[in-house]
Amino acid sequence: MSSYTALEAFESFYLSSPEHVIDAPGRVNLIGEHTDYNDGFVLPAAINFATNIAAKARSDRIINVLSVDYHYQHNSFSLDAIAFSEQQMWVNYIRGTVAELLKIYPDIQGADLAISGNVPQGAGLSSSASFEIAILKTLVVLNQLPLDGVKAALIAQRAENNFVGCRCGIMDQLIASLGKQDHAMLLDCRSLTFEYATIPNDIVLLIINSNQQRGLVESEYNTRRIQCELSAKHFAKPALRDVSLAELECEAANLEPLIYKRAKHIITENDRTIRAFNALRSKDMRAMSQLMRESHLSMQYDFQITTPAIDYLVDIVADVLGDSGGVRMTGGGFGGCVIALTPAHLIDQVKSTVTQLYQAKTGFKADIYVCDAMDGAFLNR
Ligand code: GLA
Repeated sequence: MSSYTALEAFESFYLSSPEHVIDAPGRVNLIGEHTDYNDGFVLPAAINFATNIAAKARSDRIINVLSVDYHYQHNSFSLDAIAFSEQQMWVNYIRGTVAELLKIYPDIQGADLAISGNVPQGAGLSSSASFEIAILKTLVVLNQLPLDGVKAALIAQRAENNFVGCRCGIMDQLIASLGKQDHAMLLDCRSLTFEYATIPNDIVLLIINSNQQRGLVESEYNTRRIQCELSAKHFAKPALRDVSLAELECEAANLEPLIYKRAKHIITENDRTIRAFNALRSKDMRAMSQLMRESHLSMQYDFQITTPAIDYLVDIVADVLGDSGGVRMTGGGFGGCVIALTPAHLIDQVKSTVTQLYQAKTGFKADIYVCDAMDGAFLNR
């Protein structure tokens, strides 16, 4: 958490006032995990944790950045010579994003920036996508660029893929860009078209941070991607999106058991995600509850990205919610957060159950955030 706001940090460091203060949200995924890079479906919402940037245009080609969250470190680079930084990893998110933006708009001007944020880092709530989208929105505003939200998301994703070196899908950047207040978004990750579903009035996005440090995330993430690609190749299809459950079952005996399980998660998860969107739209929490339970089990046994601590957390919260709410691990996996769609009257009971049982059993102390679904940075606001 930042002690200073971006605005305060800007004023004391640059000794002038910023022209704009821009923010972009983190996200929570309700269902549809690891489906984005299989050209499938996801159902995330943008949340009220964000990256804030105070900014002022410069007349030259220098970008100055002050990071409140990284001990007020300062970094400066020229738009004409962008290089990877081995010393300051956080700087690469900015440099990579700007490098990708320059490929489309080579003539942008420099800027003085101060950045702070409160998206928990390493918790699976996409602090990095929020960072990238905030940078893009800032440069779009300062330079008056006609960049829309989908293109911004693609630029941010390319920055991660090409510069930072993470082979992430499009979900995080797109929801940080085009999320909508009080809504979740069903995103088709192949066509990049989307629809919103209202989150029922009495349902709260309760996010429980397991505080289990996420380990092996990148290597395991990339391994899952390769396994998915291998199984799509087996079916001679462009992506697992194009393989049906019936086709998978027919080929089960000819697939390595691990590859079969990975494919089964993706194929069934795509189907659950579309059904969850319809359930949410029709306020059918019983169906939502069941789908989230199945999704978690599929991540636990078939995709194998959960941990015993997270499984325990999901179990104790599910006992409180029954079928009036839903709970599952959210994000890339191997630790991080649990999302519980919780009726308002059960919030206290969920909190006290987690407080009483979770730490005693696992040794980790959970943090609980009561969140709202927010607008993304590129939604007209
Ligand atoms: C990370 C990636 C996303 C997505 C999720 C898993 O958040 O950045 O693209 O693959 O994991 O659903």
